[in-house]
Amino acid sequence: MVQIRDEKPGDVVAREHLLDACLGEARRLKTSERLREGRLPAEGLALVAEREDRVVGTVRLWHVEAGARRPALLLGPLAVDPAIQGLGLGATLMRSALRRAAILGHGAVVLMGDAPYYARFGFSSALTETLFMPGPFERERFLGLELRPDALAGARGTLRASGAWDESIPTHILPASVVEAGADSRRRVA
Ligand SMILES: CC(C)(COP(=O)(O)OP(=O)(O)OC[C@H]1O[C@@H](n2cnc3c(N)ncnc32)[C@H](O)[C@@H]1OP(=O)(O)O)[C@@H](O)C(=O)NCCC(=O)NCCS
Repeated sequence: MVQIRDEKPGDVVAREHLLDACLGEARRLKTSERLREGRLPAEGLALVAEREDRVVGTVRLWHVEAGARRPALLLGPLAVDPAIQGLGLGATLMRSALRRAAILGHGAVVLMGDAPYYARFGFSSALTETLFMPGPFERERFLGLELRPDALAGARGTLRASGAWDESIPTHILPASVVEAGADSRRRVA
């Protein structure tokens, strides 16, 4: 029996092991990661799948701006334990996360991923044609979904991280650029 629930602090080690097993160390080099590092996921949108007291799936969504004053969520990473892939858990996680995002009032979701997989949830590269990632990216893998009609209509520009900083992350493990940006934003708030 698999349960989809909110991620808890005690899940972090298991979640990171799962991501390493599914995506390898290279995941840390992805441009999407630049939009997540040092930040907290959006409230209520960090989910895990638990089976027999083990974390077997993970998905999180993050606040971004998709061009000027155009709030959106960045989805990812999504991963399912290789031992139970192909049984529908990825789809269950996706649908749970998207349903929650809609209930919470979010208008749009973007992600970097394989279009043949994400098309089944309604994602399309047509919605991101005038958007850019803040680094190297493959245009055909840059996908969008509108939870509210026209939430991405006319959106243009480069994605920018807009989530709250995760103050629990020790600064020495973050890239200097993130520490600088965090310090700047905290000074502005103070
Ligand atoms: C992608 C992933 C989360 C899907 O989870 P899952 O539980 O296996 O997915 P589901 O059981 O809901 O769906 C399985 C279907 O998706 C297809 N599928 C899985 N990965 C796919 C991909 N990258 N591209 C196209 N189709 C894919 C399977 O072939 C299968 O097709 P079928 O329904 O026609 O048989 C999982 O395979 C995974 O963790 N992969 C490694 C990490 C990863 O690539 N994450 C996504 C980053 S883009």
